[in-house]
Amino acid sequence: MTVRVGIVGTGMIGRDHARRLTGTVAGAEVTAVADVDAGRARAVAAGLPAARALPRGLDVVADAAVDAVLVTSSGPTHEEFVLAAIEAGKPVFCEKPLAPTADACLRVVRAEVARGRRLVQVGFMRRYDDGYRAMKEVVDSGGLGTPLMVHCVHRNVSVPVAGYTSDMAVTDTGVHEIDAVRWLLGDEIAAVEMRAPRRSGRAPEHLRDPQIILLETREGVHVDVEVYVNCGYGYDIRCEVVGESGTADLAGTAPVTVRAGGHRTAPVPAHWTDRFARAYDAEVREWVDSAARGAAAGPSAWDGYAATAVAAACLEARDGGRRVAVTLAERPALYA
Ligand SMILES: NC(=O)c1ccc[n+]([C@@H]2O[C@H](COP(=O)([O-])OP(=O)(O)OC[C@H]3O[C@@H](n4cnc5c(N)ncnc54)[C@H](O)[C@@H]3O)[C@@H](O)[C@H]2O)c1
Repeated sequence: MTVRVGIVGTGMIGRDHARRLTGTVAGAEVTAVADVDAGRARAVAAGLPAARALPRGLDVVADAAVDAVLVTSSGPTHEEFVLAAIEAGKPVFCEKPLAPTADACLRVVRAEVARGRRLVQVGFMRRYDDGYRAMKEVVDSGGLGTPLMVHCVHRNVSVPVAGYTSDMAVTDTGVHEIDAVRWLLGDEIAAVEMRAPRRSGRAPEHLRDPQIILLETREGVHVDVEVYVNCGYGYDIRCEVVGESGTADLAGTAPVTVRAGGHRTAPVPAHWTDRFARAYDAEVREWVDSAARGAAAGPSAWDGYAATAVAAACLEARDGGRRVAVTLAERPALYA
């Protein structure tokens, strides 16, 4: 069966996923797209073999030629489209964050629970990265002993001066590490703190950059996450789990290390599209395979809710200058 996909939001990652669904992942075709920028939607549709540009995102969700929906519009608009897809009984892939507030995420969780089956997959692609998967296998095997600490680094070359805020460094950027740590450890975050080091001269005036997120899990693992989004030199993602009797950290991503002229060098990826290309392919492949069965797998609406709730607590901790406990709603059996 070919899954007919409708895409809401044809910006940077919407176009990337459209290309992936057309040329890389088998079993899918894009049949409809929409964007508030109608010209952009038309241009994207024109470049795809079977897609029409529709006026509104809700038209895409309702379209009879759409079996499953991919939501890649900006974060605050996700809830409306994901709720509509659940209502229509269509599998829906929603880019992170599921929604910008914990309350909005909970509305999605409750709608899905009321529907009685999983339809939502959230775009936490780290879970599909070979390195993170190998690290989880080691942690789960007990080879490191009991996990004690996790050290994470999330560095971007730069972010747009306009439109990227200090809050987004947590809710849109650090949220990847928040989800990755929950998944790696199989543990929930119980409390958070934040630190703001000296501001980088590379950062625009309005932006706190870098920032440090400190997480404590229910089992007592302590996690530090450095988010530095104007580091200038590359897209650098690091993660190390420290257990009682061993450690595991992500290996470098370069296929070769060059030793010459007295130096050892390896390239650093320039962008997240390079670093996680295979992970994006794998997550979309799993989504298409599940959607063909009318179902969903992978990171769930509950994971989207938990990550957003933790990110919101981080902002409260940062702005209040204190440690904040994370209170989650009761986890529905659907997400056991
Ligand atoms: N998983 C990842 O690594 C990753 C990477 C990049 C972006 N994202 C997420 O994907 C989403 C989109 O990010 P982007 O970088 O492509 O942003 P973008 O600004 O390039 O694209 C967003 C698009 O959505 C459109 N849009 C906004 N409101 C809309 C509405 N109501 N209906 C239809 N279209 C609407 C905009 O016009 C724009 O074309 C964000 O939630 C972002 O956090 C995830």
